[in-house]
Amino acid sequence: MVAGNWKMHGSRAANQTLLGELEMSLKPEWPIDIVVFPPYVYLSDAVRMLEGGRISVGAQDVCAESGGAFTGQVCASMLKDVGCTHVIVGHSERRRWYHEDDALVARKFAVVLAAGLTPVLCVGETLDEREAKQTEAVISRQLDAVITMHGVGGFARGVLAYEPVWAIGTGRTASPEQAQEVHAFLRNRIHAQDAKIARHLRILYGGSVKAGNSAELFSMPDVDGGLVGGASLSADEFQQICAAASLSGSAHH
Ligand code: PGA
Repeated sequence: MVAGNWKMHGSRAANQTLLGELEMSLKPEWPIDIVVFPPYVYLSDAVRMLEGGRISVGAQDVCAESGGAFTGQVCASMLKDVGCTHVIVGHSERRRWYHEDDALVARKFAVVLAAGLTPVLCVGETLDEREAKQTEAVISRQLDAVITMHGVGGFARGVLAYEPVWAIGTGRTASPEQAQEVHAFLRNRIHAQDAKIARHLRILYGGSVKAGNSAELFSMPDVDGGLVGGASLSADEFQQICAAASLSGSAHH
């Protein structure tokens, strides 16, 4: 799976160009899921533009409530209603700038599942935490908040993304070995509760994924794709990343 997290970028004109170019260059037969995550206001447009194609559309966030007097918020059933299939929850930018804690993220994970959509749960440590050897403690805490609230069963439909905060938007990618180490740790933690779910779970790597480093990252046994920020805004880069994922996807089969 390759996910393109556009963050707060885009315009009607730019989105039309980008999605048009992607539709032309992404091959229908590639054995991967490709999902783009535009800002809320462009979701309907993106769904309409991509109808019948091979790219799905997801949202970058969701409200943990299921509707009502929550000014400015958008609930999961609305995202489903406009044609989204996926929702990112717990992105580090949400955790950092909007003070989302593990409990809130776990509630968001649940409302996404309840709406019949696929949550993409992001976990990851900061540079300070990595240097203090807290990586496993931090990502365990973030993952366990979801498992404790809802059981491991949600990961039968959910997707997990490891995004080391120090690698996001910095141009500093985790090495394939660093990514593999953490991905294996996460899969083992799920495995301890349910071997089948662990085997089928897709764990994406995110943090400065580019065309030039994606093949190496995706060649790792526990790296099942990428959550791509900056490089997802370039049709050419994103297409090359999808091509790399599809090659390694075929190899895993
Ligand atoms: P980046 O962002 O690829 O620009 O580092 C990744 C993300 O935040 O999902």
